[in-house]
Amino acid sequence: MLEPFAALLGRGRVGAFGCYDTAMAVGVLRALDARGGVILVPAATLRSEPVVAGLRAVAETARVPVCLQADHVHDLETIERACRWGVQAVMADGSPLDFEDNVAFVREAAAIARRHGVAVEGELGRLPGGADADAPIGAGLATDPEQAAEFVARTGVDCLAIALGNVHGALLPAPRDLDWGRLEAIRRAVGVPLALHGGTGLAPEVVARAVRGGIAKVNFNTGLRRAYLAATAAALPVAEPAADLVALHARQADAVEAAAREALVGIALAGNSDLVGRL
Ligand code: 13P
Repeated sequence: MLEPFAALLGRGRVGAFGCYDTAMAVGVLRALDARGGVILVPAATLRSEPVVAGLRAVAETARVPVCLQADHVHDLETIERACRWGVQAVMADGSPLDFEDNVAFVREAAAIARRHGVAVEGELGRLPGGADADAPIGAGLATDPEQAAEFVARTGVDCLAIALGNVHGALLPAPRDLDWGRLEAIRRAVGVPLALHGGTGLAPEVVARAVRGGIAKVNFNTGLRRAYLAATAAALPVAEPAADLVALHARQADAVEAAAREALVGIALAGNSDLVGRL
């Protein structure tokens, strides 16, 4: 079932998963527990209305609360299109811009989104690495807690993505630890739910500590893409001679399900009260 973004994040401890087609979304849904989760629609996928409609249709079949969020959108035209195509949230990513331009972009994105009843996530600070494919691009910039408070107040975002040493993709070594003091300071300064991007490669203990420290949503993408591609390569020698597309899609969904389950281990650990104080 589709659920508003704010309601999902309000309960906290949700995973968000990049899905480029319905086989991926089917795999993700099978991995979700009763808390539900977010289907991330990467900006590259927001060029095709039928693909987005397909992802939305899969989300509507979920037995647990799910919402669709446009991910890493850098322009207002795509924000508007995503809203028209039925997402519940957009991530208006102005993180490559300087502070004032980021504020201005997200304010405009929020004005569009509000007209459609769609929630907005912004990002302050910057993650190195590529969002849709592993690439050695960009330099990281940690989120400043005071600026984060000002950013949220001026943009009215419903959720803030922050940088604590986290990276996008699997090309850069995943950090073994994050800047926990910074997370604590941001959590104290900012009242809206916080998102941690770059979930791939983080140890479950690190994800669990982040969630315990105030992260409401953890985004994963690369690990799912890699699992999907590896399953495709492994299945093709059998599927191709038999022209068996059904078997291929089944293997892809299975692989994405397994990757999403693995990604959710850290979030589940955070909810295990036996571990309180030990992480
Ligand atoms: P990874 O690709 O590193 O898992 O990051 C995904 C992400 O943050 C999507 O918004």
